[in-house]
Amino acid sequence: KENEVILAIETSCDETAVAIIRGGTEIVANVVASQIESHKRFGGVVPEIASRHHVEQITIVVEEALHQSNMTFDDIDAIAVTEGPGLVGALLIGVNAAKALAFAHQKPLIPVHHIAGHIYANQLITPLKFPLLALVVSGGHTELVYMKEHVRFEVIGETRDDAAGEAYDKVARTLQLPYPGGPHIDRLAQEGEPLIDLPRAWLEDGSYDFSFSGLKSAVINTVHNAKQKGEDINPQTLAASFQASVVDVLVTKTEKAVQEYNVNQLLLAGGVAANKGLREALQQRFEKYSNVELVIPPLSLCTDNAAMIGAAASVLYRKDRRATMALNANPGLVL
Ligand code: KG4
Ligand code: ZN
Repeated sequence: KENEVILAIETSCDETAVAIIRGGTEIVANVVASQIESHKRFGGVVPEIASRHHVEQITIVVEEALHQSNMTFDDIDAIAVTEGPGLVGALLIGVNAAKALAFAHQKPLIPVHHIAGHIYANQLITPLKFPLLALVVSGGHTELVYMKEHVRFEVIGETRDDAAGEAYDKVARTLQLPYPGGPHIDRLAQEGEPLIDLPRAWLEDGSYDFSFSGLKSAVINTVHNAKQKGEDINPQTLAASFQASVVDVLVTKTEKAVQEYNVNQLLLAGGVAANKGLREALQQRFEKYSNVELVIPPLSLCTDNAAMIGAAASVLYRKDRRATMALNANPGLVL
């Protein structure tokens, strides 16, 4: 059980992704078929359209991953799949494809939590060193996760309303930027100064929870008030101010948690981990902690992919975690 080869499938949202991972760390193949173009004109992911695309793409993407790796199912030791959370119809396509492949080729089936996947994307960069803390920031989740050992997740703080990525996407929509808005806000923020004073939700003393809906509303109000007065709002300034607030809260709470939990590693995970402002702020803030290794995956491993699912699945495989053919998609699966 050392160099197991896992074929992993991820279809929780709007990417049909298949990867082949060897030994939990080596990417042999990594294919992502994005649907963003199909959802753009609706300003967000349309679940029905997502499911339909997954159905159309899944076989092609599996074939492509095998082709890239020069492998056949004889070389594959197990099939892994995202069980949840996510869009139920989207998850179902991946789960059923994985069950069909596992049954047809008589391979073990390994269910993976989507957020565990995001965290284990870091294992494709460097070995995990426990205890560690992961800052998970995606379109659906914002949480601080403490891990004493492999696949033991303790959520020490999470958002009470919007996820960070959700706030980015809604603010982008207010500025009439295309979906997904996160990267656009990020780009604008690089070009502006954070001159507008926006709220920061620190919540109660000692809390590692987050809240971004107040900030989101403050941005929307700022834009509407300016419009009513017939004033122009500089989108760069607004984006920079919004990003400054998000990054300030994320980095400050993460720093407190790193101190309290005395961890060896800090991992960044999830789609918003692609954010330039956040990456730079974390690097700066954690320079002085010579005992804490900050790990930030490349952009392609931050947004949804199946390589991260394969990395997490390796650990589960070695712990003999298996699903039966009764495996079902679980849109509300907890970590
Ligand atoms: O992890 P992910 O691909 O999907 C979920 O599991 O939710 O995250 C997608 C989210 C979107 O909200 C997108 O706007 C955001 O990640 N995102 C960014 C950036 N790149 C992607 N947010 C801020 N800055 C970015 N550069
Ligand atoms: Zn994700």
